[in-house]
Amino acid sequence: MTSLRSVTDCLISKPTHASDAVSIYHALLNRPQDVAFPVVQEFLNAQLMRAKQHSDASGLPDDLNNWAAWIEGNASQVASAYREYLESRHAGRGRKFFTSKAHALYFLQHVAPTKLVDVAWLYDAVNHLGDWRYHNLIRTYLEELGDGDPALNHVVLYRKLLAEHDCAPSEVLDQEHYVQGAIQLALGHAGADYLPEVLGYNLGYEQLPLHLLITAFELNELGIDPYYFTLHVTIDNASTGHAHKAIQAAIDLLPTDDSREEFIARLRTGYLLNELGKGTKAVISSFELEQEVVAMLERKRSFGQHMHSDYCRLDGMTVNEWLSEPGQCRAFLAALENKGWIKRHEDPANSRFWQLIDGPGAAMFGVFSGYEMQLLRDWISGNWQAENQVKKANPFRAQFRRRAPCAELPLTTSDVLSIEQLTVLLSPSMHLTPDGLNATRTFSRQLAEGSSIR
Ligand SMILES: [Fe+2]
Ligand SMILES: [Fe+2]
Repeated sequence: MTSLRSVTDCLISKPTHASDAVSIYHALLNRPQDVAFPVVQEFLNAQLMRAKQHSDASGLPDDLNNWAAWIEGNASQVASAYREYLESRHAGRGRKFFTSKAHALYFLQHVAPTKLVDVAWLYDAVNHLGDWRYHNLIRTYLEELGDGDPALNHVVLYRKLLAEHDCAPSEVLDQEHYVQGAIQLALGHAGADYLPEVLGYNLGYEQLPLHLLITAFELNELGIDPYYFTLHVTIDNASTGHAHKAIQAAIDLLPTDDSREEFIARLRTGYLLNELGKGTKAVISSFELEQEVVAMLERKRSFGQHMHSDYCRLDGMTVNEWLSEPGQCRAFLAALENKGWIKRHEDPANSRFWQLIDGPGAAMFGVFSGYEMQLLRDWISGNWQAENQVKKANPFRAQFRRRAPCAELPLTTSDVLSIEQLTVLLSPSMHLTPDGLNATRTFSRQLAEGSSIR
């Protein structure tokens, strides 16, 4: 379910209540300077309390020396579970996650608040360029930002993916979809006071989960470029990638005095923050096609209720009458079906309703977004689509060619900026802009050269 609150409302209102993940998320992303520190603190402390109530099933060993082996063990378990998944697909079994393309787009849309702030939790690390102990965190942060190459910046890539399929959230989603993103932004914002939690969260987030592999495989199968997901398979690996750097950073930053025990306890709670909010699997299992079609029409209803002529009646009511009150869209769909305007379980092109909405010459062309069209297409075509997909698709064929990173990036004009100016441009809301990408390239170079710390 989506609330009717608009994104603009969220941009205007200040977060006053720390339990409001939606407001915290938008404020920290758009106007971090206006967010009072106690509000961020209250939000994070409340999330940490929630995290503590989760049973620690992570198995994170007490002895730090065993962490690397533990992460490698996790990675090999994931690899063998994925091998089993592939074997089942080779044996002809169906997809495990996505029942249709609309289902996959629903997933991309509902995890967008998290993906659009990818790596925000490490933002504070860039304030510590002069301290070698932070360099693994800074390197991870910069790699997620593509070192300033827009073709490799994770947030830019996710934005492109949403744009390509016209499936970005058009309205504010439920609170639970913003919890992870708000946590990530809050950790980045208040990182100086929450270092153990940042390290623990990072350790949890940067490990390769099985769902990422399956998601990438099934997106490709459904004609959706999986690059954003496959990129994380290589970049987060346990031997040299972000998971490895996450352990190293935790070890480097661990205090050697009496505060060590407390630091590790806080790190563990930070690790558990990964469990909060609506995660990948919960998002995937919350999709039900007809329910989404009806909910989408209900959202659109108020815009369309005066736009139709009264010439045609369905079950005795005009289209405007059908749309005049909430809660009638399911019956309206049934009326369209009864009247023969929608022919389910056939090629949608056979349905008069579809002809009205599809193609540049159609009377209602442009009324529905790419995602909404896909919902209607999948709902109308039903079994017909399922049968046709079985005949056509070879899930094992990679459908997308890898685009090369930019060979020649423009020279940076940010070399004259101070380190403070650069770090502002590296923030979660700025790093994806041309100035932010420029600043990232300068910053990456300075880190590599170990120079120019002004
Ligand atoms: Fe990422
Ligand atoms: Fe990563």
